[in-house]
Amino acid sequence: MKMPKGKTLSLRLAEVGDAEFIYRLRVDPSYNQHLSVVDGTSDDQREWLRKYKERESRGEEYYFIIFRTSDQFPLGTIRLYDFVGGRKSFGIGSWIVADQKSRFSALESVLLAYDFGFSELGFEACHMDVRKDNEKVVSFHRKSGALLCREDDVNVYFTMTREIFDNFSNRFRPLLTPVVA
Ligand SMILES: CC(C)(COP(=O)(O)OP(=O)(O)OC[C@H]1O[C@@H](n2cnc3c(N)ncnc32)[C@H](O)[C@@H]1OP(=O)(O)O)[C@@H](O)C(=O)NCCC(=O)NCCS
Repeated sequence: MKMPKGKTLSLRLAEVGDAEFIYRLRVDPSYNQHLSVVDGTSDDQREWLRKYKERESRGEEYYFIIFRTSDQFPLGTIRLYDFVGGRKSFGIGSWIVADQKSRFSALESVLLAYDFGFSELGFEACHMDVRKDNEKVVSFHRKSGALLCREDDVNVYFTMTREIFDNFSNRFRPLLTPVVA
């Protein structure tokens, strides 16, 4: 399986040894306002990752560490999960890019995750739920062209089809092209 690589960022599968890094991101109040609460300790995170690795080995879920290709610096996480209807739709979540990011890190990381779901895994669509009060991310998905399908009291629900993704990624093609092969 080819690991995603963009202009400046790469994705690699999370390992149990990443527990501390992920835990620190998840408990940081500057990132976790709109994410589900993580209870427990980095040991619980380690245990969660052990179980995740089983799901990964069955092809049910892919949890990526986002890192800067030039110096391997880890910037965040993004996860493909909740695969429904065979290859009908995949969910994207656990998306965090830390403050050391550049202006384009959010776009590059999400484009790489979409591309993995559509091109590598062959899905037809992608679904995302975003907390309503996470206005910045709601706006991000709207700008990408994703369809706002429904909402409830807490979340808005977006769908990104392969066709919309093709338009979105064509606008940002250079971000999906590594500077160094
Ligand atoms: C979610 C997260 C990764 C997004 O990253 P971000 O850097 O805040 O994303 P932004 O919306 O500021 O987008 C980055 C840049 O890309 C631009 N951009 C985004 N979508 C664009 C589009 N479709 N076309 C053109 N530019 C676009 C933005 O305008 C921004 O540029 P600017 O800095 O010049 O304004 C980050 O905010 C984060 O880690 N948040 C905490 C965790 C979280 O809430 N995750 C989401 C859970 S659903």
